Amino acid sequence: METLECIQRRMDIRSYKPDPVPEGTVRALLKAATEAPSSGNLQNWEFVVVRKYETKKALSGAAMGQEFLVEAPLIVVVCANLELAASKYGGRGRDLYSVQNTAAATENLMLAAWDSGIGTCWVGAFNENDVKRALNLPENIRPVAIITMGYPDKTPKKPGRRPVEEIMHKELYGGKI
Ligand SMILES: Cc1cc2nc3c(=O)[nH]c(=O)nc-3n(C[C@H](O)[C@H](O)[C@H](O)COP(=O)(O)O)c2cc1C
Repeated sequence: METLECIQRRMDIRSYKPDPVPEGTVRALLKAATEAPSSGNLQNWEFVVVRKYETKKALSGAAMGQEFLVEAPLIVVVCANLELAASKYGGRGRDLYSVQNTAAATENLMLAAWDSGIGTCWVGAFNENDVKRALNLPENIRPVAIITMGYPDKTPKKPGRRPVEEIMHKELYGGKI
C-alpha cells in the first residue's frame, strides 16, 4: 500500500477474527515501530506482547472494563523506559520526550499493521498502576499505550477529521489562512 493511502485508510478496529497474528509478523511490526524517530535516538521504548487470556482480562479490567481487549488475539503494550529517556535529557526527557518517542513508535506500529491487513486500536484510558501490576513492570517502565491487534472482523466507518482550513494557522494562532 502507498504510504499516504495507508495513513488515510487506517482506522481503529475493535472487532477481530479469532485468527492469531503470527510471531514473525509481530516481530516485523515491532521492527517497523522502532524505525520511528526518538530524541537523541535514545529509543526508550519497550513492547510487552500479550496473548494469554488471563493477562488480557487483567488489562481489560485496568482499562475500565473495555471488553474488546479480551477478544483481541494479541495486545502490545507500548512502554516508556523513563530511566533511559532521562539519561540524556533529564526531566524533559523523562516527562515529555519519553511519551513523544513512544507515541511515534505506536503510530508506526499501527500503520505497519494496517499495511499487513491487521487492525489495531489505541487504548489510552487505563489505570497505569493496574497495568503495571498486570504486567509486572518495574518502577521506571511506564505503560503509555495499549494496542489491541488482530485481523478485522467488522470494519466501521472511519470517523471524520477537522478540515485543514480549521487547523492550519498562519503565524498567529487563530489567524485565517
Ligand atoms: C491517546 C489515545 C487514547 C485512546 N484511548 C482509547 C480508548 O481507551 N478506547 C478506545 O476504544 N479508543 C481509544 N482511542 C482511539 C480513538 O477513539 C480514535 O483514534 C479516534 O476516535 C479516531 O478514530 P480512528 O483512529 O479510527 O480514525 C484512543 C486514541 C488515542 C490517540
